[in-house]
Amino acid sequence: MKRTKIAALLSADGPREQIIVKGWVRTRRDAKDFSFLEINDGSCLANIQAVVDSDAKGYEHIKDMGTGASVAVTGALIASPGKGQAWEIKASEVELIGGADQDTFPLQKKRHSDEFLRAIAHLRPRTNKFGAAFRIRSELALSVHRFFQDRGFFYLQSPIITGSDCEGAGEMFRVTTMHPGQPLGPEGAKADFFGKEANLTVSGQLSAEPFALALGDVYTFGPTFRAEPSDTARHAAEFWMVEPEMAFADLADNMDLAEDLLKHCIRDVMERRAGDLELFAKWVDTSLMGTLEKLVADPFERIPYAEAVEILRKAPKSFEYEAAFGKDIQTEHERYLAEEHFKKPVIVYDYPKDIKAFYMRQNEDGRTVAAMDVLVPRIGEIVGGSAREERLDRLEARIAEMNLNMECYDWYLDTRRFGTAPHAGFGLGFERLVMLATGVTNIRDVIAFPRTYKHLEF
Ligand code: 4AD
Repeated sequence: MKRTKIAALLSADGPREQIIVKGWVRTRRDAKDFSFLEINDGSCLANIQAVVDSDAKGYEHIKDMGTGASVAVTGALIASPGKGQAWEIKASEVELIGGADQDTFPLQKKRHSDEFLRAIAHLRPRTNKFGAAFRIRSELALSVHRFFQDRGFFYLQSPIITGSDCEGAGEMFRVTTMHPGQPLGPEGAKADFFGKEANLTVSGQLSAEPFALALGDVYTFGPTFRAEPSDTARHAAEFWMVEPEMAFADLADNMDLAEDLLKHCIRDVMERRAGDLELFAKWVDTSLMGTLEKLVADPFERIPYAEAVEILRKAPKSFEYEAAFGKDIQTEHERYLAEEHFKKPVIVYDYPKDIKAFYMRQNEDGRTVAAMDVLVPRIGEIVGGSAREERLDRLEARIAEMNLNMECYDWYLDTRRFGTAPHAGFGLGFERLVMLATGVTNIRDVIAFPRTYKHLEF
């Protein structure tokens, strides 16, 4: 007989004579002539309770079926007389699949700190909270794909190893087959695998642009890598990014797309993973559902950067960093705008050109570019993007002005030499989306095996 998943059993519309459930024991309670097993198989947050009488086959091993052990339970699905659950299993047979030593199994207590669980990242998916977080993460990934597929975007798998030296300045991880002690630098690179320097990508954008200017609308969704030595709760060295790129589109189209995407994903999680979300609303952030409902229902605020700076300068609180035109908006500023001032997501646009990348479309005022960031409560920046400079002469002038190496952008400039078109796109940090949906405040707790500054385990 094939096993039935607990998620399917709990939504059963009637009793079943014989089923088999396989999962991990969350708790066992023994009475004189029977035992209760609470079993979770990861298919949903809820456990199923099995009542195992002492005459059930395999009962002689019940003492080894402690917390963490894997078991198979065969029996009848019956309406539960107990409170809090519709169904339970009356077991006719129990089998110990894999034992768990009760003296050393680390997940005995009901609640553990996030720090403790981070140190056992290989076991934490067995907890309610991490099981729920990773089911939500999976749902969000599919939701991203559905959103774009429904709108005629093509999914592009952009490369992970990049040979473009110009992709990002100074924050890349080098890819090499050279041994320690062999010379690196330009000479060493010639002897290396690719015959030149290779790095891990920081963004799929430069691959997505040529494809948008051929297929119309595309998106990438894959891992990206940044060697920023910033040890914060929002930065990881390896994270996933969703990067749509649209041809014949401007900044307003870009803002609309980002807002629609975030609303679509959050709505999907609220509908499809309501049970898992409840855990976060109860234990992690009691204001979570209010935040999500508002996010889905209300239009995002949209303000130019200059206005954001004015709001920050007039704010009735002091910041560690001063807000001033021409300076980066810091996380504390982002959070003030989204959390306290507007109390909802804010899209800040038209940033000073000097703090933004060379490829962003130059505005007519000569000092700003058509860039946008989406800021959300609790997290700050979740999306960063722009309209791209499609005018060859303006783009070349900007590359020269910023003292970048024109030669290495030659291929990129081809897309502007031949059939150029206005286009726009953005990057959504996927982990930050999971944080937004769950209320989890540390990025390490929404990545299976996090890679962060000075931390690489497993
Ligand atoms: O603003 P960023 O750096 O934008 C780009 O890389 C553009 N090339 C995207 C584009 O236009 N196609 O990064 C985009 C988003 C950020 O808003 C943030 O959510 C996330 O990626 N992000 C990180 N997430 C986790 N850890 C990090 N170290 C991150 N760096 C950026």
